[in-house]
Amino acid sequence: MQTQEEQRDAIWGKPAEAGQEQEQKEKFDPKAFALELRDDIQQNRIKLPTLPAISLEALVVVNDAGSSMADVSKIIGKDTSMAARLVRYANSPLYRGINNVASVKSAITRIGMEAVKHAILSLAMRDVFTTGISAIQQRMEALWQHSVAVASKSALLAGSFAHLNRDEAMLAGLIHDVGAIPILLKAKDHQFLLDDERKLDKLVHALHMSVGKFMLSLWNFDPAMVEVAAEHDRLERNSASAQVDYVDIVQVANVLCHEATSGHPLCGIDTTTLPAFQRVGPELVESLRSGDVGSAESDISLALH
Ligand SMILES: [Fe+2]
Ligand SMILES: [Fe+2]
Repeated sequence: MQTQEEQRDAIWGKPAEAGQEQEQKEKFDPKAFALELRDDIQQNRIKLPTLPAISLEALVVVNDAGSSMADVSKIIGKDTSMAARLVRYANSPLYRGINNVASVKSAITRIGMEAVKHAILSLAMRDVFTTGISAIQQRMEALWQHSVAVASKSALLAGSFAHLNRDEAMLAGLIHDVGAIPILLKAKDHQFLLDDERKLDKLVHALHMSVGKFMLSLWNFDPAMVEVAAEHDRLERNSASAQVDYVDIVQVANVLCHEATSGHPLCGIDTTTLPAFQRVGPELVESLRSGDVGSAESDISLALH
């Protein structure tokens, strides 16, 4: 069994040897950056984004078997912006009925107690991706927009698989790149990183899956969501199960979001040989690519804002 230190090192790499520090100061070293980030997080020197208190309170109630819908709606109702988002979400194409719902209680009834916990976490994510730090504001906003796009596609894809939950797929899309946030928060102290977009992209790419895994474990997210953060960019991944899982869904949604972005590493790649694409199936991929679901997709993303 691994000790806590060994587990930590497996995620973050081994600490720098004495004498390497001077060298790290002279030349930027991504590994040193990763180690510093690890220490910053462990010693609370970096302020990690937190989930809004109202969503945590609501989740405690949702997870309590003795709670009723009225209990959950009472808590959500205390936060007007969360309440408005939940009603909008229940009226999105994921749930839209004949009539629009107008109250939190009817929104929860429509979504259902089981799915509402994923919905609450998804709706809380907007705050996690919001920063008051102007140097990284633009990148955080772009990251949020990208996450919403991946989330909408993921929810639509998951709708075709009875064993998957659309709200959980939505959440998976929203959190897949969450590990980029602490990296950006630390990069704000290195002006040359902010000036060199390519270098920062490379750094985010190299570290964000480990950091995301760490953050979501800290937040006690389900193992399936932690796996999405930890594995989504490993396109060669072949999962042990024969069934499509959330990592497959997010991989496909993420590649589809990037494939038209010239200069992006995922632009123009051959997707036919990728295990996740094969598992999801070419027809479903094509329907998303061709934009058949265009307005549903944009309506879902609107519900998250
Ligand atoms: Fe990623
Ligand atoms: Fe992504």
